[in-house]
Order: sequence, then structure tokens, then C-alpha cells
Amino acid sequence: MRDLAVVLVAAGKGERLGQNQPKAFVDLAGKPLLWHALKNSVSANNLLQVVIAAPESHLEAAREIAAEFAAKVEAVDSGFHIDVVSGGATRQGSIANALAAVDFGVEVVLVHDAARCLAPVQLFERVAAAVRESGEGVIPVLPVADTIKRGSAERILETVDRNHLRIAQTPQGFPAPTLKAAYATATQISTVGASVVEHTDDAALYQAAGHGVISVLGEVAAHKITVPTDLERANSSVNGLGPNLRTGIGTDVHRFATDGRMPLRLAGIEWPGELALDGHSDGDAVAHAVVDALLAAAGLGDIGGNFGVDRPEYAGASGEVFIRGTLELLAQHGWAVQNVSVQIIGNRPKLAPRREEAQTRMTQLVGAPVTVGATTTDGLGFLGNSEGVAAVATALIYAVPKVG
Ligand code: CTP
Ligand code: MG
Repeated sequence: MRDLAVVLVAAGKGERLGQNQPKAFVDLAGKPLLWHALKNSVSANNLLQVVIAAPESHLEAAREIAAEFAAKVEAVDSGFHIDVVSGGATRQGSIANALAAVDFGVEVVLVHDAARCLAPVQLFERVAAAVRESGEGVIPVLPVADTIKRGSAERILETVDRNHLRIAQTPQGFPAPTLKAAYATATQISTVGASVVEHTDDAALYQAAGHGVISVLGEVAAHKITVPTDLERANSSVNGLGPNLRTGIGTDVHRFATDGRMPLRLAGIEWPGELALDGHSDGDAVAHAVVDALLAAAGLGDIGGNFGVDRPEYAGASGEVFIRGTLELLAQHGWAVQNVSVQIIGNRPKLAPRREEAQTRMTQLVGAPVTVGATTTDGLGFLGNSEGVAAVATALIYAVPKVG
């Protein structure tokens, strides 16, 4: 049952952002803030309607953005639709206008600032679910990390106990009929000429009308874009996530030398008293799995394709040579390593006593944190028979930001 509406308030001037255009239409990574806000909200479950409050001057621009999403959402007989209305002189006025356009069938309304355009859809879901469960107003909050003082610009009066303080975000959710009634009352008071109380969020207005408000955990990503540094922060989070991170997986297996050759080389270190591994190179399964994971993450093929067993220059080469070559390839393609995790599978060698050493060596070779773990196969198969060693690695890489 579609019973949810999202009110997106996008009618502010954005004076503090100082871009000479309404904030919701300012560019973030190639799209207006309003586009991002819509993108994150339209996939909320049971969504029937979005109402956008836009500035008079940008009604058409808002309709164009809305049309893109209205077409995308599994439309046809779902009844889903997006409306655009004119905003008011204040945030509260904009919301009052938008609420007037909310369908009768809607049971839960989420009011959201377009300025918090990176609030993830999970936050919309979390708030809506809490409204349905509690029947109360619900706001997302974060704890306060800073020490807070009360006072004027010059004189500090006291330190406030931050345990009682929360940072309020949006989307804020409410049972639709109750919120509509609360806004109608607030608007009525203002029209009969009593002093108008401008509430800075919907929960304040809702509580002033005598209703209860509870909280759910907010999201750091839901921070509000108010001043230029907020926009920079949003830009780097959009660019830092998504297409600029890649993961890859790599596996390698080698047989223990049947001629009794020693010592073993694994994870870039020597293991005296342990059988060596056979292979075209030094058989360092850990190093090779790491190389494959890194190459896979960067979409650059695999170890065989890049450092093939048919190439004489790699005969007997140490894992270090392959890692160095791989890091060079990655750098040429604009990638750097975030971290790598490797698991050794087999009975020998026993990793625990030398885990730190293995991790330190691998971290040094890769130039980013490498963690190394180990497990056995409960005696099963060729690894359980101590015929060889396997290693599985995952790598996370990121695109190095371009300077200039
Ligand atoms: N808002 C609105 N109508 C108004 C004022 C604000 O719809 N008359 C919306 C803004 O578009 C924003 C949210 O309320 O999404 C939070 O307001 P704020 O961050 O103050 O945005 P602006 O008012 O646009 O910014 P400024 O105060 O710097 O001008
Ligand atoms: Mg404002």
C-alpha cells in the first residue's frame, strides 16, 4: 500500500552559500542539489507522492528535474507522482504550501530539506518505519561531539551537558493528518495577527501543537549544505564514494616442493624449516593472490596476462617483483591502494607467531595496510593433506584525485 509522501523544501534563497541562485539549483558533481535529493528519496518504499516547494523563479526548472524521476519510478498504475508548488517567504510557509498539495490517501509525511541532498534512502525508510510503528513524530538525530558553551560572543556563562543535546536532521516524519492540522493551526494563528512563531524545524512546530516526537539515529551524510565549505564537503563525499572506489579478489595455490627443497617464501618473508613452494616464480601464494586482487580491482587483467609464466625474466622472481610491477601499472592508470586483506589456507606454516612480521612486510611492499590471516580446511582436500598452500586476497583501490 502506497501511503507515504515526501515534502522536499527547495524554495530558499541560499544566501549563505552565496552563489547568486537558489541553493537547491546549485551544482553538485554535475547535477543540482534538488536532483540529488530527489534521487535519494524516490526509491523509498511505499512512496506515493513527492511534493517539491520551489522558488517562483524556478518552478519550470524544478518540473524538469521532477519529470526525469517521475518517468523512472515504476510508474503506470502505481499512482506515483511528483508535484511542484511555489514556496513561501519562510521555510515554514513553503512547507504549509506543500502540505496543502499532499494527497488525502497519504498516511505518513516526511519533510526534507533539499539542502540535505545526500541523506541516503535508508534514512527515509528508518524515519517512515518509526512513524508507522509509533504513531508519533520522528526525527533523525546525531549526538553532539563538541563541548558546548552557553554565553554571548564575549563571555562564557556555562558549559552545557552535551549528553542531553542532539543534532536534529531531516527527513522528519509525521502522521499526515496530524501534521497538516498542526500547520493549519500555525498558519491560522499568523493570519489572525498574533505574533508568528517561525519554527526552525517541523518537530518544533509539531511539539508546539502538543504532539510527541521521538528520535531515530541520523546519518552523517544527511548534513545540511549551508555555507561554501559544506558544498566542498558534499562534493568530496560524492567523488570519494561511488565510481572512484573498486574492489578486486585474487586467489593463488602452490604445491609444496616434492624434492624437499627449503625454505618457504610466503608473504614476502622466509620461513626456515618449512618446505618451499613450487612455481615458475618463488611460489609466494600470498604475494600472487594480492597481485591478482589488485589487478582485478583496476580491471587490468590478471597475473598470468601481465607477468606470464612463459616470460623467462620472471623465472624464479620473488613476489616482491610482481607487486612492484603491479603498483606501477595501477599508478599509470590513476589508481592507488586503500587496503588489502589476505587469508592463507593450509596446515603449514603456522602463521600466528609471525603474523605481525608478515603483515609489516606485506604492508611495506604494497605501501598500504595489508592484513594477513590464516585458516585450515578441517583436514579436507589437498590443503588438509598438506600438499600445498592457498591464499585468497581482496583489495580496495581508489582513483587518485587529479590535481589542477
Ligand atoms: N526553504 C524553503 N523556503 C524558504 C526558505 C527555506 O523551502 N522560504 C528550504 C531551503 O530550500 C532548504 C531548507 O528550507 O532546503 C533549509 O533552509 P536553509 O538551509 O536556510 O536554506 P536557504 O534559506 O536557501 O539558505 P539561506 O538561509 O542561506 O538563504
Ligand atoms: Mg534560510
